[in-house]
Parts: sequence; structure tokens; C-alpha cells
Amino acid sequence: MGKPQRIGILTAGGDCPGINAAIRGVGKTAITKYGMEVIGFSSGFSGIINKEYEVLDEAKLSGILTLGGTILGTSREKPFKKNGNKGSDKPDRIKKHYKELGLDCLVCIGGNGTQKTAALLADEGLNVIGIPKTIDNDVFGTDFTFGFDSAVWIATEAIDRLHTTANSHKRIMVIELMGHTAGWLALYAGMAGGGDVILLPELGYDVQVVNRYLLDRAYKKKPYSIVVVAEGVEKPEEEPSAAGYVARMIEKGTRIETRTTILGYVQRGGSPSPMDRILATRFGTKAVDLIAQEKYGRMVNIVNNSTDSIPLNEVAGKLNLVPKKHSLINKARALDICMGDECHFS
Ligand code: F6P
Repeated sequence: MGKPQRIGILTAGGDCPGINAAIRGVGKTAITKYGMEVIGFSSGFSGIINKEYEVLDEAKLSGILTLGGTILGTSREKPFKKNGNKGSDKPDRIKKHYKELGLDCLVCIGGNGTQKTAALLADEGLNVIGIPKTIDNDVFGTDFTFGFDSAVWIATEAIDRLHTTANSHKRIMVIELMGHTAGWLALYAGMAGGGDVILLPELGYDVQVVNRYLLDRAYKKKPYSIVVVAEGVEKPEEEPSAAGYVARMIEKGTRIETRTTILGYVQRGGSPSPMDRILATRFGTKAVDLIAQEKYGRMVNIVNNSTDSIPLNEVAGKLNLVPKKHSLINKARALDICMGDECHFS
């Protein structure tokens, strides 16, 4: 086999800021440093299943660094998911199209689901490289994913804005942040935004502990409180949202007027932060360096601020959750922030 000459790239799963910066990082490095040709599949794995793609030349890769979303489109297509009792023919279609298009490698930009699919495609014999992205920061094997820093900024700004309205009305404000089953976004934005209570799925919470803490703040003449809730915290199944449930329990238990904000998809939209642009670019160039070295079946990562890579089969099926003793949780406790499970009363 000669040097890799033609690579494909796709973006799958929920979008996030920084994907275009990663596409640009892959594309420009492949074209200018290694003289490769790059094609982009549309709408995640659907694009390679249906052979829908475009050539990404330098013109197409210009002016996209700062753009939110993904120029390729995305979907939550899972090609290995069984169709009832029948197996899926999608992995075979992917292999067929990979071969017909003369690809030397497929770069898969995505979160946990995408890395799992990438690992399965590697098991099927394709050359694959994964690039981790998500606002949830929950991909195993990397300290950070791009998208997370931008979402922390957006969520922090939202919390900042809640302080003034909460103060004016002397209310408790409950804000729900995304993160799927991980609490990274709530932890970071909660700390940066000065949340008084931060509830994470990893720690669990006791409403009575939270209420006692909030009543204690009121007793100390603190005019308002901000409660940051990760969307993945426990709630009764019939409850539509974690924050709505927590807010109701708080109002019932404290009799302090309480309002709810569910931040939603704005956390995923818009232009990436400078740190995400840089991380996505580092991941993109690293991915192509791996391809040039013909080191496949790996996901690029960042550990202790160094980019490296890890075998995809070590990543697949695992999650990066907030450790219960994470240093930021310890700092929060030192500041007397209530983490829902235990509080310090003076
Ligand atoms: O994984 C990113 C994320 O935004 C999660 O934080 C959230 O739970 C989920 O995606 C929402 O998914 P969808 O785009 O399918 O509504």
C-alpha cells in the first residue's frame, strides 16, 4: 500500500461549536501538508451509507473556522443498530462505498456514539480515526472535547444574567444545563457563574438538604439564590424536566418564590470560543498526522494539555463522568456551595 491519498470525513451526533474548525484543521493539513484529497460526507453516517458527499477543496475550507454548527450536516444515524430481528445492511454499504471511493481513511468527528461506531468500523477492517467533540465533555479517554468550553461560556453568561433578576425579585432561580448523563457543564458553568447550589448526576442530591441550605441563606439575609441543575440528575420518570421538578420541590419546601430556566439548544449554537477553535484545530491536525503515519483505529485526545491518541476500542462504550472527588467539587465545598449531597452550615 502506498501513502494515504484520499480521506473521507463526517460529523455525527449532536452538533457543537468547533466542528467546522476541526473539519478545517483536518482538511487544510491533509491538502497542504500531505497533498491528500479530502471528501466530506453529508449528515453523519447517513452520508457514507447513501454515498452522499462533496470534495472539500481549499475554497470550501476557507472562512469556516468561526462558524458554529457543521458545514457537512449531522445526524444520529447508528449504522450498527439492528433493524428488528434483521441485521442491518448499513455496515456493508459503508464498506462498499468506502472502497468504491478509494478512501484510505475515514475521519469520524463525534461524541460517544460516534466513537463507538468508529470502533466497530475499525473492527470491520476500515481505516478509521476518531475526533471527540461534544458540549457534554463526556467522551472517555480525553481530558476535554471541543464544544465544551463554548457551552460553558454560554451557560455562564446565562447564569450571570439570572443574578440580577433574582436579586430584584428576591427569588430562587433554578437553571437546567445540558450534559446528558454527565455533570461537567453544570459544574464548570455553575462555578464560573457563582451558583449557590450545583446538582450533578454523579453526586445525587437530597431535596431536603438543598432546602435547608436555601433556607439558611435566606436566614442569613442573602436576598436570592441560584440553583444550577444538570439535566441528567435523578427525577421521577413522569417529570418532563429535572429543573422543573427541583424548582417545585424547592418552592414547596422553602415557600420562597422559585422560577425555572431551561437553557436548551442555545448551549450548542453559535461561534466557538477561542479555546475550542484551538482545540479543534489541534485535534484536526493531529488526526491527519496519524493518518500520514498510517496509525489507524485511534481517537485523538488531549491529556495534560498534550495532544495524543488512544485506541478506539479502549474508548468505545465508556463514559467520562465527573469523579466524585474532582478537585473542582472539593473547591465548591470549600466555598460552602451546596452540591446537594452534603452542606456546611456555619
Ligand atoms: O450530547 C449533546 C446534547 O446536546 C446533550 O447535552 C443533550 O442531552 C442531547 O445532546 C440532546 O440531543 P438531541 O440533539 O438529540 O435533542
